[in-house]
Amino acid sequence: MYSPFIIKKKINSFNKTIHVSGDKSLSIRWALLASQAKGKSRAYNLLKSLDVISTLNCLKKLGIKINFKNNFCEIESDGLNTFKNKKNIILNSGNSGTLGRLILGLLVHYNNKIKMIGDRSLSKRDFSRVTIPLKKFGASFTHKSKSKLPIVITGLKNAKPIKYYEKKGSAQCKSSVMLAALNTKGETFIKAKKSRDHTEILFKYLKIPIKIKKRKNFDLIKINGGHQFSGFNYNIPSDISSSAFFIVLTLLSKKSQLTIKNVNINSSRIGVITILKKMGAKIILKNKKIYKGEKIANIFIKSTKNIKAINCPKSLNSQAIDEFLLIFLVAAKAKGISSFKDLSELNQKESPRLKLGSKILNLMGIKTILTNSSIKIFGNPNIKIKNVIKIKDYLKDHRIFMMSVISALTIGGHWKISDPDSIKTSFPDFLKLINKLKK
Ligand code: S3P
Repeated sequence: MYSPFIIKKKINSFNKTIHVSGDKSLSIRWALLASQAKGKSRAYNLLKSLDVISTLNCLKKLGIKINFKNNFCEIESDGLNTFKNKKNIILNSGNSGTLGRLILGLLVHYNNKIKMIGDRSLSKRDFSRVTIPLKKFGASFTHKSKSKLPIVITGLKNAKPIKYYEKKGSAQCKSSVMLAALNTKGETFIKAKKSRDHTEILFKYLKIPIKIKKRKNFDLIKINGGHQFSGFNYNIPSDISSSAFFIVLTLLSKKSQLTIKNVNINSSRIGVITILKKMGAKIILKNKKIYKGEKIANIFIKSTKNIKAINCPKSLNSQAIDEFLLIFLVAAKAKGISSFKDLSELNQKESPRLKLGSKILNLMGIKTILTNSSIKIFGNPNIKIKNVIKIKDYLKDHRIFMMSVISALTIGGHWKISDPDSIKTSFPDFLKLINKLKK
């Protein structure tokens, strides 16, 4: 049924402090690593979104004990490679590329067939990017349609370590291979184009034998597999990708300011802040601290009148990969022509975001020049929306929904945005927090 979310009015000025939900990348990684840790692990402030619930459900099917208490989630496992061997298991990754790709790494050692399925969006996404390296460990895969879900994986007891070159700047590919290496005796060697490094930081914290050499454009990672580690507790900081919606909402609203508390500001994730600062945004990181190897801070942001266009350095692409829809919106309000290159990966997300981002700007009356991997945005600081804007047919991509809401609240006009339920996959509290800023 088509029951869109309707917005007809810009948001009024606000001056508030908010807490955004837990980081999705860290929530999924905590659960997957806790499933291999011996004993009990607890996560506080775990993101309670469908992607994380799908992760817990997959682990339960594999025999891992999971309990939700008042303010934490507890996972109990017998350790490395102790998933219960059952026949005909079907794991449903739902909407989550991170879950689907990372858990396959752990299944390399599971010597029974497991079928993996996902929702309509995930079933359109490429899995060969992980099945190719995982085959080198010795796992085999069958798929109905080449490189897409559903796929069946058959692992093996004596997987062999590999050498792998990750060229896309994909943390999902890198982490999938790292999780396969975790349980594989011997040394796995990864040369990886720069991407978010939460898995590396967790490995170090857990004292899993890992050596990392950082080079300018890539990292060299060596993992010695087969090392058992113990259960661990983790307090998940807030998600910078979810915070980014509120950063841009504040930036583009009139006379507003906002503090977002306790956000993970890992340097491989804060491309959005670097890019927005280059465009003239006033953003300050306060009370910086380190938590188990991750950087945390409060983010302070103020509205900015004069936004400048940007020729975005492609070295920032991976650091801002989930925030480009929002960055495109800021470019639409900037003075001048902004240009973004080497972004074909953006079309590999929950929806083809480069293409759909451009389409939404066009609906707003903004001119764009789009190719398969780049976009030029002809900004207009005085955009006025005359027609009703309908956002639909976007594969229920949560970030398209939320970017459209931020556009409507900052640019104005009459918007009808379908599939508000899409936020449940990554940021179920999004609309509640928007309402908090309206009060
Ligand atoms: C993620 C990595 C990114 C990102 C996704 C989460 C992760 O994907 O888009 O939302 O947690 O590793 P890629 O690594 O494929 O770029």
